[in-house]
Amino acid sequence: MQKSKKEPASPKTGFARLFELAMMKKPLVIGSLILSTVAAVLSFVPHISIYFIIHKVIEALPDVSGADAGYIIRWGWIAFAGAVGNILVYFAALMLSHLAAFGTLYRLKVEFTSHLARVPLGFHVLVGSGKLRKITDENIEKIEGFIAHQLPDLAAAISAPVLLCALLLAVDWRFGLVTMAGIAVGLFIYARMVGNEGYQANMDRYQRALEDMNNATVEYIRGISVVKAFRQTVYSFRRLYDSIKQYTAWIIKYTLQMQNGYAAAITVVQNVYLFVMPFAILIGAGVARDNAAAFSGFATTALFYLVLAQAVGGVIIKVIYASGTMMQLTGNVDAMDAILAEPELYVHPDPKPMGGCDVTFDNVTFSYDKDKEVEALSGVSFTAKQGEVTAIVGPSGGGKSTIAHLIPRFFDVSGGAVLIGGTNVREIDPHALMDNVSFVFQDVYLFKQSVMDNIRMGDPSASDERVYEAARDAQCAEFIEKLPRGYQTVIGTKGIHLSGGERQRLAIARAIVKDSPIVVLDEATAFSDPENEHLIQKAFERLMKGKTVIMIAHRLSTVRGADQIIVIDGGRVVQRGAHDGLLLQGGRYGDMWRVYTHASSWRLSKIKGANNG
Ligand SMILES: Nc1ncnc2c1ncn2[C@@H]1O[C@H](COP(=O)(O)OP(=O)(O)O)[C@@H](O)[C@H]1O
Ligand SMILES: [Mg+2]
Repeated sequence: MQKSKKEPASPKTGFARLFELAMMKKPLVIGSLILSTVAAVLSFVPHISIYFIIHKVIEALPDVSGADAGYIIRWGWIAFAGAVGNILVYFAALMLSHLAAFGTLYRLKVEFTSHLARVPLGFHVLVGSGKLRKITDENIEKIEGFIAHQLPDLAAAISAPVLLCALLLAVDWRFGLVTMAGIAVGLFIYARMVGNEGYQANMDRYQRALEDMNNATVEYIRGISVVKAFRQTVYSFRRLYDSIKQYTAWIIKYTLQMQNGYAAAITVVQNVYLFVMPFAILIGAGVARDNAAAFSGFATTALFYLVLAQAVGGVIIKVIYASGTMMQLTGNVDAMDAILAEPELYVHPDPKPMGGCDVTFDNVTFSYDKDKEVEALSGVSFTAKQGEVTAIVGPSGGGKSTIAHLIPRFFDVSGGAVLIGGTNVREIDPHALMDNVSFVFQDVYLFKQSVMDNIRMGDPSASDERVYEAARDAQCAEFIEKLPRGYQTVIGTKGIHLSGGERQRLAIARAIVKDSPIVVLDEATAFSDPENEHLIQKAFERLMKGKTVIMIAHRLSTVRGADQIIVIDGGRVVQRGAHDGLLLQGGRYGDMWRVYTHASSWRLSKIKGANNG
């Protein structure tokens, strides 16, 4: 909503945005980063202690028994304290980072879901619940993992090498340089691979291929009953099959392309001693020749570097892994931000009451795409009067459902206006608008709750009596009473099956309870069989009494008695009038009527023929 105080979506992208998100709980995160750095420093204490111990031992050579035992034991304890301290401090760092991560997770989820509640309803139709679920459940959860684990590791991984480099150079700058050169070679190989312009593009492609495959899988599983019923194989689900093949082909190519660089980088970094060793041997040979007395000191230093080089490599590897995860994460964050950037439903700061219940389309134009290249509706004008039935008919894809969706503002018009009682729907309080419009669509969504609650959804304050009455009016009472637990039967539990027509009538009962002055029916009779149709018609009669009714129907028999019939084709009004008048005019409606009556008589004669034969 315009008046809400939500911060605007951040203009930052990529890593900058990721860090911005991570810093939502700044004190906790910074505390965790500091502790994690301290832990990393402590982790080197054992290595350094060993250096001092070895130094003492070598000093005492060849008679080791003469070494200063007290000194050695003291360093032994220091090494132990360093190791234990490292564990404890790291644990504390993770505690803080988890507190920060879950706090951030909570805030992001609340922000994201409340944004979803404020975008136009049609947005949900366009995007689909699968994608939104993935973002709330997976993308946002991964941000939690990043803050809780990768971020503290990263802090350690960046600060520790800086300290180490200083240490490496301080003890013996020649060894320091060699060790750092080894690491630099590894990082160079890695950077060349990552910096390669194809890499990021490949990463994106990988994500997309994975997403495609996931979507196709979900679709396949949803439709599995149909597949089984029609004895289809997996090959019939072309999309799933193709997406798996595509993913496989691509991932193999990608992996082969990456394997050498990646393996080389990791191997070099993990085995820096390969650089230190030859250097140590070369220099050591020189020292032994020129100044034998200095050799023991030299050997200690060489040993120190061999031990430490390994520790440095381990830390650097963590940076490499963390950077890989971060690259994936930025994609996740981008997907979340794209949704957060979706404009919210405009709410007029000073809403006006509806002036009545006539629904008017005034020269309405509408496009689904943002560039407004294809118009789903062009210059549509008509008025549906209160107390009358206005039917909308026309070929599939003509724009009938789009008209229905514009009345309760699933979408806002691109041009012209939708008015209720003379007031632009954009100026009406959205809650009031929802209270005044009921719709029954072809797909009836029933909640996994009792029949009673499902009907009462139309008006949560309705008494049991009113629910029973609505069920009777909607011709539901009979089948509901046959359910195992009557009105308390929970829909969706095992063994409870409602037919399409029954679901439809439940939706009508819901609308009767709601009792709003404007009723929109979009192909609400689509599921009815001849026996059901009669019941649904009776249910409608009760629902429509005294209301502004906009009825979309493909079965022309249902609209025959409408006060006004609007014929829509290609997003335009091509004819309007009552049934008889339209038939006299000929044109589109006449054609449709002839096709329709021909089809139904054909169906009838087929049935009769079958019965006779
Ligand atoms: N969610 C959507 N996104 C993009 N285009 C759509 C969407 N829904 C409908 N359209 C397009 O708008 C036009 C009108 O569709 P619709 O109103 O559903 O027709 P009808 O209900 O008469 O069959 C069609 O060309 C259709 O492809
Ligand atoms: Mg439709």
